[in-house]
Amino acid sequence: MSTDRSTLTSQEREKTSVFHSWSAQSTINPLMIKSAQGVYVTDEGGKTYLDFSSQLVNTNVGHQHPKVVAAVTEQAKALCTIAPQHGYQSRYRAAELILDHSFDGAAKVFFTNGGTESNEHAVRMAKLFTGRPKTLATYRSYHGGTSTSINLTGDPRRWPNDNGTSGVVHFFGPFLYRSVYNSTTEEEECARALESLENTILFEGPTAFAAIVLETIPGTAGIMVPPLGFLQGVRAICDRYGIVYIADEVMCGFGRTGSWFAHQDHNVKPDLVTFAKGVNSGYVPLGGVVINEAISASFNDRVYPGGLTYSGHPLACAAAVAAIEAMESEGMVENARRVGDEILRPGLEQLAEQHRIIGDVRGLGVFFALELVTDRATKEPLAPYGGSSPAMNEILAACREEGLLIFNNFHRLHVVPPCNITDVEAREGLARLDRALSVADKYYVGA
Ligand SMILES: Cc1ncc(COP(=O)(O)O)c(C=O)c1O
Repeated sequence: MSTDRSTLTSQEREKTSVFHSWSAQSTINPLMIKSAQGVYVTDEGGKTYLDFSSQLVNTNVGHQHPKVVAAVTEQAKALCTIAPQHGYQSRYRAAELILDHSFDGAAKVFFTNGGTESNEHAVRMAKLFTGRPKTLATYRSYHGGTSTSINLTGDPRRWPNDNGTSGVVHFFGPFLYRSVYNSTTEEEECARALESLENTILFEGPTAFAAIVLETIPGTAGIMVPPLGFLQGVRAICDRYGIVYIADEVMCGFGRTGSWFAHQDHNVKPDLVTFAKGVNSGYVPLGGVVINEAISASFNDRVYPGGLTYSGHPLACAAAVAAIEAMESEGMVENARRVGDEILRPGLEQLAEQHRIIGDVRGLGVFFALELVTDRATKEPLAPYGGSSPAMNEILAACREEGLLIFNNFHRLHVVPPCNITDVEAREGLARLDRALSVADKYYVGA
């Protein structure tokens, strides 16, 4: 049946025909995008926004990077698609480049279409490898929207999807600013989180767990950089109890922290690393699992019971090859680290001096969070856990008004621009953020 849509605006057409993620459909107000270039996005009305969000923290090389666009175009002309049982150059080339930047002993890459599928498969591999049923994850985490991943997830999006049979056991990772362990130093927080993890394993059954799935730096849940020593402690516990260590680097991998993978700053070797987003900046959907030798070899003579029609899709892999090569040749990973150290951290700390509602600034590279509070002493969040508030809505509206796209989760704003943002652009974004935050200073009630 055809419908006359000629009188509708484009936003009305979007709203009447597209079912949006994680939303009550009647409440959405999508910004209608016309184009994007570099760190800027333009809406259908011609207004330009500086993209401090990298969309969903995925456009690590910025929008429309010419080398990635050219690679996808060339690939489309040569071969758009091929089934996963065949071999293909852009696929093995992408795998080689990913392995070259991965941990020592990384053997193979299994390609998926995104982050959640990567975690599904990593957990499946770990369960088959160990023959064990259960998994561990932290409360402050996001691992994806499909059944295993959403049950690994610690945030409230799990609740309506959790039927209590997933076999995931959650514990609290280290987070000094809102310590559940009453710690006063990073060292205490680190030791207590590790002790809690080990006690959880002992009381659940030391042979129950196949895997622990940890975002190296929890992203959506608040960009909490773990204290040095925590991940090494996790590695030691995994070794003690025969548990597979899965590092979820879907958000923090591929340059975002100023390293190719965030765990590389912690001198630790996971068994499996899941990735997506920054691997090709999302120009074509792609994710995957980097697999160590032992787990990979365990499927040499037995069948791995999993697969995807689009595993290693040529367009996605060609985009990955071009994105990784552009990141290498243009020094984007180093740029991310430098911009974080020289512009974002000092700039955000300066904003915290001007706006009392900023209770905490944390992060590194192009991966920073601002914790917004009504009182620095009580740390009362500007929006409740799992919710929103008029104050947060006012700030987000002001960001849009100022021409700034920013990532928001509950009472937090995340400053997560592309890895190749220039100093001038980063300063411009901070200036826009400064003006937007001014609308909420009135919500501060503390001393
Ligand atoms: C750490 C982490 N893992 C997994 C996912 C899920 O990725 P996708 O949305 O590509 O399925 C995300 C998405 O934001 C993520 O941040």
